[in-house]
Amino acid sequence: MSKSTPASPTHHRTALVTGASAGIGEEYAHKLGLRGYALVLVARRAEALKELAEDITARCGVDVETLPADLATPEGVAEVTARLREDGSGDAAPIDLLVNNAGRGEGGHFVEQVPEEIDAMLDLNVRAVLHLTRAVLPVQLARRTAGETGKLGVINVSSLAGEPVVNPGGSVYGAGKKFLTLWSESVAAEMRPRGIQVTVVLPGFVRTDMTRGVQERGLPEFAFVAKEHIVRDSLQTWAAGRSHVVPGAQYKTADGLLKVLPRFLVRAVARRMV
Ligand SMILES: NC(=O)c1ccc[n+]([C@@H]2O[C@H](COP(=O)([O-])OP(=O)(O)OC[C@H]3O[C@@H](n4cnc5c(N)ncnc54)[C@H](OP(=O)(O)O)[C@@H]3O)[C@@H](O)[C@H]2O)c1
Repeated sequence: MSKSTPASPTHHRTALVTGASAGIGEEYAHKLGLRGYALVLVARRAEALKELAEDITARCGVDVETLPADLATPEGVAEVTARLREDGSGDAAPIDLLVNNAGRGEGGHFVEQVPEEIDAMLDLNVRAVLHLTRAVLPVQLARRTAGETGKLGVINVSSLAGEPVVNPGGSVYGAGKKFLTLWSESVAAEMRPRGIQVTVVLPGFVRTDMTRGVQERGLPEFAFVAKEHIVRDSLQTWAAGRSHVVPGAQYKTADGLLKVLPRFLVRAVARRMV
């Protein structure tokens, strides 16, 4: 069959989730499986992905592919972009929803951060997200033009860490997430008139492996939003055609305050925290 054949209507709707082996990504995989999506799961740990795939297939009766890849490397990104470019003319289903969730969050004073780790964090948190999205959008646009009526698009997992005017101890992570948020909102505005929904989600603290250090420091319970809440809110926001969501009442309030507080005040608080 020719590659230029329009997407076959027989393919099941399908989501590709990065960082699916743990934390928020694993929750996306479960919830999308329950909603009837076939899945493509991406992360480095092949064994964890395989176990998750078997569990979701048993519980939800959907097809689950695993695609182990290191998204901080050009080779890993190339493997996943190749899957995202599948247009449905072959055996593989085209991707209806890409969830860019994989991320890492090392902090510390910039001057003490390891240069190679800074690169790896930006490659994963920013560069991979751009390349993956750039691979899937043209396929989704072509499908829309060819008459596809189902929901198509991308969810980008950013962070509230990019919202304060300063983020000492999280300069690289926060700046990367700020980039992601601005970029995602901009692409959302470009894609909306063309029938493709792009949504950015900005969580505060969530109990996952990434925040183990913060959890051990004994932050109060109200500082955390459950991963189930993050996933539910972002899927609802995406389905409702909105481009931005901050899950959790406490973080909605914090986000609102960050937008109206004078910058000098936020800087002064940040200096005290350093
Ligand atoms: N937890 C929070 O408080 C919080 C707050 C705001 C935003 N976020 C964002 O939420 C997203 C998920 O974070 P999380 O808290 O769920 O973290 P997590 O529990 O540490 O999970 C991270 C996931 O990313 C995958 N991953 C890490 N490096 C990778 C690489 N090089 N290539 C491919 N996959 C990789 C991991 O799998 P492998 O190790 O198997 O590769 C894992 O599945 C991130 O983008 C993070 O910035 C988290």
